[in-house]
Amino acid sequence: MVMRFYVTTPIYYVNSTPTLGHAYTTIAADILTRHHRQRGDDTYFLTGVDEHADKVARVAKEQGLEPQEYADHIVGAWRELPKRLDAVNDFFIRTSDDGHKRFVQEFLQRIYDNGDVYQDVYAGWYCVGCEAFKTEAELVDGKCPDHGTEPEWLEEKNWFFRLSAYQDRLLQLYDEWPDFVLPHIRYNEARSFIAGGLRDFSISRATQTWGVPIPWDPEQVAYVWADALVNYRSALSYAPGENLERFWPAVHLLAKDILRFHCVYWPALLLSAGEEPPKQLFVHGYLNFDNRKMSKSLGNVIAPLELVDVYGADAVRFYAARVTTFGQDGNVSVDDVRERYERELGNDLGNLVSRTTAMIARYRDGRIGPAEPNDELKALLDDLRAKLVARFDAWDLTGALEDAWEIVRWLNRHVEATAPWQLAKDESRAAELDAVLYDLADGLRAVAVALWPFVPRTAPEILAALRQPVDLGLERVGYGLTPATEGIEAAAPLFPRVDQPTAAA
Ligand code: MSP
Repeated sequence: MVMRFYVTTPIYYVNSTPTLGHAYTTIAADILTRHHRQRGDDTYFLTGVDEHADKVARVAKEQGLEPQEYADHIVGAWRELPKRLDAVNDFFIRTSDDGHKRFVQEFLQRIYDNGDVYQDVYAGWYCVGCEAFKTEAELVDGKCPDHGTEPEWLEEKNWFFRLSAYQDRLLQLYDEWPDFVLPHIRYNEARSFIAGGLRDFSISRATQTWGVPIPWDPEQVAYVWADALVNYRSALSYAPGENLERFWPAVHLLAKDILRFHCVYWPALLLSAGEEPPKQLFVHGYLNFDNRKMSKSLGNVIAPLELVDVYGADAVRFYAARVTTFGQDGNVSVDDVRERYERELGNDLGNLVSRTTAMIARYRDGRIGPAEPNDELKALLDDLRAKLVARFDAWDLTGALEDAWEIVRWLNRHVEATAPWQLAKDESRAAELDAVLYDLADGLRAVAVALWPFVPRTAPEILAALRQPVDLGLERVGYGLTPATEGIEAAAPLFPRVDQPTAAA
């Protein structure tokens, strides 16, 4: 049976340009997608941008532009993000796409027809940064704790969604599926929010014009979240490709800032519209910089593409997967990126490839072939595939990378322990030397396949250096799959030294 894997990132607000925080989710989604491709799954990966926010309209106005003009201009920077990170997203959605707008109208109409929408007056404190109302209890010194800004008093007649009517069905969904939201701490958070009682929320805005018109009341536009969440579903209705509807339901990736919208509002909206709720939601942590969540409004950002310019996409991806256990918060710094680039990618992996290929070229004229297996390495490599699958099924990208890296470290220790340069001096130990060189090459080959989701440029380079076919299926992770090979030459460094300092901070 073909397994399906449909993963999404949040669609990012276009009120500013991408930070390493946005890159983080896109990288994670790409690593997951590539892993599932290696398993032979039918995959679909969606990312894109959220345009109809009040904060977008405000930035446009500051720049003297119409919101659409502004969005058309800045969207270039957001399209570049997945491209430059080597992400293989199948589609890039914009909420201003006609196909999306049509679907949102049809979706909201369904909810209306089901009797889940009514008109009421709302008055409350609205944080434009969050694009959400805040209760007094959520404010700290009268300010939004996430944005450090004072919310604005908003009072208008809006259309409301009867979220309160979905409390029981949501609880049932959570109870039937204990892994609906992961990690479990986030599941508990979402479930207790639901159990605490749900307030209906407004799905329209009367005072704004930038947005999707409400089909039964075109004087109002859809509230940005009632428009944006629908992207995960709308894309399948109009993106290029055959029968994309097969991919629903999706697994959603997001950070904890937007947990309620995704884990509470969105499943309820779907149920109301007669659709299946998401398959699963994974809520990852924050990348913190100077101990605060990296965000444009706090001004503590690292520009991801500047890091890519200096270190390459693979290094940034590797760093993202490794800096903290996926799901937990982590502190990031430019120095840390450089340190891991030099020590782990440059020394641990890059030097190992250089040394291995150089020794094969020098001592065996570029030839290797199967020899007496090293039992320890054989066991490690034969276990690796199952370990990777288990890690990825638990969304543990960091653990999967660590499992692969354990082999890199083993191989480095093996070089030191066996000292091939000594073996090469002693003709009577030729078989031992053959075995060591084969194991190094075979281990690197298997590791390259295991690492491909993380470092999609480097992995084929390692295979090419070892004169192996670029066959990246997960079944290639195992011992002894390298045939007799010739023509191996000393490889150029995979991660050359970077001398120019980066201005990325
Ligand atoms: N437009 C909404 C999402 C709508 S989805 C239907 C939005 N956009 S956002 O531009 O603010 O992006 C928020 C998301 O970006 C987070 O949920 C997370 O995926 C990612 N991140 C942005 N900064 C981040 C960190 N500092 N750390 C980790 N993830 C971060 O909310």
